[in-house]
Amino acid sequence: MTTSKAVLITGATRGLGNNLAHQFARRGYRLALTGRSREDLDRLAAELAASAAEVVVEVLDVTAFDTIGPVMQACARQLGGLDIVVVNAGVAFTTPAGKGHFDLIRQTIDVNLSGAIATAEAAVELFRQQGGGHLVGISSVAALRGFPRNGIYSATKAGLSRYLEAVRIETRREPIVVTELAPGYIDTELNRSLPNRPFLVTAEKGTQIMVELIEKQVHFRYVPPWPWTLVAQLLKHLPDSLLAKM
Ligand SMILES: NC(=O)c1ccc[n+]([C@@H]2O[C@H](COP(=O)([O-])OP(=O)(O)OC[C@H]3O[C@@H](n4cnc5c(N)ncnc54)[C@H](OP(=O)(O)O)[C@@H]3O)[C@@H](O)[C@H]2O)c1
Repeated sequence: MTTSKAVLITGATRGLGNNLAHQFARRGYRLALTGRSREDLDRLAAELAASAAEVVVEVLDVTAFDTIGPVMQACARQLGGLDIVVVNAGVAFTTPAGKGHFDLIRQTIDVNLSGAIATAEAAVELFRQQGGGHLVGISSVAALRGFPRNGIYSATKAGLSRYLEAVRIETRREPIVVTELAPGYIDTELNRSLPNRPFLVTAEKGTQIMVELIEKQVHFRYVPPWPWTLVAQLLKHLPDSLLAKM
């Protein structure tokens, strides 16, 4: 009998993490769902009970760095290993420079950079113990440039992107796959307050594309790949005066 793959998702309570859980469940994956709220995790597990092959839930705040490894190991024990770890938990705040937002800036670094990297570190360690695995990190098109009023979000996503690139190169001779997905605008609470959300796709559509790309084990893709692969090239060279209006 073949067992379906097991996937762990951080920040599974809302947004893309929640939608990814539904997408993976429909495809027969076994799920380790982690997030800050036990109540939200239990509700999600109940929603998925009918469709998912198996669901385990564990409370995990990715800024409680020392707990990430033990929680991941506990999930692996319950599911007999983890094939995929999706480093998804993230925050985005409007943080215009020099306006007293250092508390939000530090929180963004803690979650999007330190928390994401701590999760990836624990995943690579687990993959080495179990003989392989697939690390998936969610960066952003905002990693391409310093987006005005969102400088720290851009900085953390650019940092995560470079880190994932380095891990991919370091592990190239090991049975470890590293995927970076860089979404444009997928409709979640993260971006609903933004004045412009170009090329917006629904969370259902966005996460369907993400799971297809994960299954293909791509190294890097924008989400959705079209038109963002082209737009990204333009964005890299967009004059500051136009970027200021975004
Ligand atoms: N939506 C987009 O268009 C878009 C574009 C580019 C990149 N992304 C990235 O995709 C990922 C998911 O974003 P989203 O759109 O789904 O955002 P979202 O709807 O705001 O959901 C964020 C998720 O992260 C969780 N989270 C926040 N802080 C956490 C912490 N300290 N520990 C554990 N979980 C935490 C939240 O849990 P709580 O319920 O506990 O707050 C929530 O489940 C993020 O990394 C984001 O930067 C999204």
